Amino acid sequence: MAKAAVRFVCESCGAAALRWAGRCEGCGEWNTLVEELARPRPAARRGTAPPIGFVPLAGESEPAPRIAIGIGELDRVLGGGLVPASVVLVGGDPGIGKSTLLLQAAAALARAGRRVLYISGEESIEQVRLRARRLGLARAPVELAAAIDIGVIAAALERSGASLVVIDSIQTMWLEAVESAPGTVNQVRGSAFELTRLAKSAGFALVLVGHMTKDGMIAGPRVLEHMVDSVLTFEGDRGHQFRILRATKNRFGATDEIGVFEMTDRGLAEVANPSAIFLAERRGNVAGSAVFAGIEGTRPVLLEVQALLAQGSAGAPRRAVIGWDGGRLAMLLAVLEARAGLSLGGADVYLNIAGGLRVGEPAADLAVAAAVVSAATGLATPADMVFFGEVGLSGEVRQVAQAEARLKEAAKLGFTAASLPRRVARGARPLSAPEGLELVGTGHVSDLVSRFRASGRAAP
Ligand code: TYD
Ligand code: MG
Repeated sequence: MAKAAVRFVCESCGAAALRWAGRCEGCGEWNTLVEELARPRPAARRGTAPPIGFVPLAGESEPAPRIAIGIGELDRVLGGGLVPASVVLVGGDPGIGKSTLLLQAAAALARAGRRVLYISGEESIEQVRLRARRLGLARAPVELAAAIDIGVIAAALERSGASLVVIDSIQTMWLEAVESAPGTVNQVRGSAFELTRLAKSAGFALVLVGHMTKDGMIAGPRVLEHMVDSVLTFEGDRGHQFRILRATKNRFGATDEIGVFEMTDRGLAEVANPSAIFLAERRGNVAGSAVFAGIEGTRPVLLEVQALLAQGSAGAPRRAVIGWDGGRLAMLLAVLEARAGLSLGGADVYLNIAGGLRVGEPAADLAVAAAVVSAATGLATPADMVFFGEVGLSGEVRQVAQAEARLKEAAKLGFTAASLPRRVARGARPLSAPEGLELVGTGHVSDLVSRFRASGRAAP
C-alpha cells in the first residue's frame, strides 16, 4: 500500500509546501501552515478509467434548465433561478441575514412542490424552527436537519431526489478523513468538494453558506470560490434596513447583478423599485443634496448624495465619508478648489449616500460635486434634476456608460432634468432621451459652479 504523504497547506491562501514554515511563501501570512494528509489514490484506478471523448467547439447544447425560486430579486441575481446540479456560495458577514434569506428561499421552493433539504450546522433544530415561526414559514414543507458530519449527510443526500440542498454553513461541516478542526481550510475544502461531487451526481442545486472574514474574503478561504459555480455576497450596513445581494461570480449568468431587500421583522422583503425607496425620504430644496443616477449591475438606481460643510476647529479639516470612497472625495474637493475656484475655507466635509448603499462608480463624481457645491454655496440643486458623470483631474466631466438607462430611470421617477457629460448630451451618436427630460450638458466642473452662482442671483 502506498504511504500517505504529508504536506502543509496555508490556511489563508491554500498554497502547499513540503515542509512546515512559520511564514507562508505564497501570501506572506504568519502561522497559517497546517499539516495535511494527502492520501494517494490506488494506482490501479488509472488503468481502468475510460478515455475522455473530445467534441468539436461547434455543436448544440441545451441551455441550462432553471428552477425559479419565486423570490424575484434572488432569481435575478442567480441569472433566472437555480441551475440543477450547480453549486452556489452565499457569503456575507455574520448576522447580515444569510440564514434568513436562505430559509425564505427554501420555503418558497418547497411550497412550489419541490423537495428541499435544509441542513444547519450552526443552529439547533429549535433555533431554526423559531426563526421559521417568526417569518411565518413554519408550515412550509422544508425538511430540516441539524448535522455537521459530511459522511452522514452524504448518505442522506445520495438518493434524496431533492431539488435544493442548503448547507448552513460550510465552515461548520466536518469530514472524518481530514485531520483538522471544522472551519480550517482543509475541512472547508474537503467538505465542499464532497458536497459538490454529490450535487453533480445526484443533480440537486447546492447552496453553501459561508461567513466572510473582516477583509472581505470568505473564511476558509479563496479555494472555495474556484470550486463553486456562483458566488453571491450579501451585504449591507448593520444600521440600515437595506440588504444587497450581489453576484460576484456566475457561470450561468451575469455578474454585478444586484438584488435589493428590505429587512423587516417578518424577514426580507423584496424591493422591486429601489430608486423609489432610496429617494423616499428625500426633502427637496435643501442645500447639500443631489440625486445621482447610477447603475448597479444591469439596473439603474437613483440615490441621494448628501454633503455637509461645517467650520471645524483649527488644524487639518475632517473628511468623513459613508457609502463612497474617501480618497475619491479628497480628489474631487481638490479639483473643485483648484479648477473651479470653489472656496471651502478649510471646512470639515461630510459625505453620505442615503439609504446605506455603497457606490463604486466614478459616474457619481458629478453628483458628489453638485452636493458639495450646493452645500458650499447654500443653494439647493434643482429638486427635479439628476446628475451623473466622471470628473477628471483637470476638472473635465468625462463620459460614462449607459446614459440612456440612467435617463430612462430618472424620467420614470418624475425627474425633468439631467446634468450629464457634455459629450454625452451632444455626442456624435444621437442620445435617445425620454420625452420631457431636459439635458444639461456639463463640460467642466466650473460650468457647474457658475450655474449655481447664476441660480443664486436669479433667486428672489
Ligand atoms: P441571520 O439570518 O441569522 O444572519 P446570518 O445567517 O447571516 O448570520 O439574521 C441575523 C439577525 O437579524 C437575526 O437575529 C434575525 C434578524 N433579522 C430580522 O429580524 N429581519 C430580517 O429581515 C433579517 C434578514 C434578519
Ligand atoms: Mg446564519
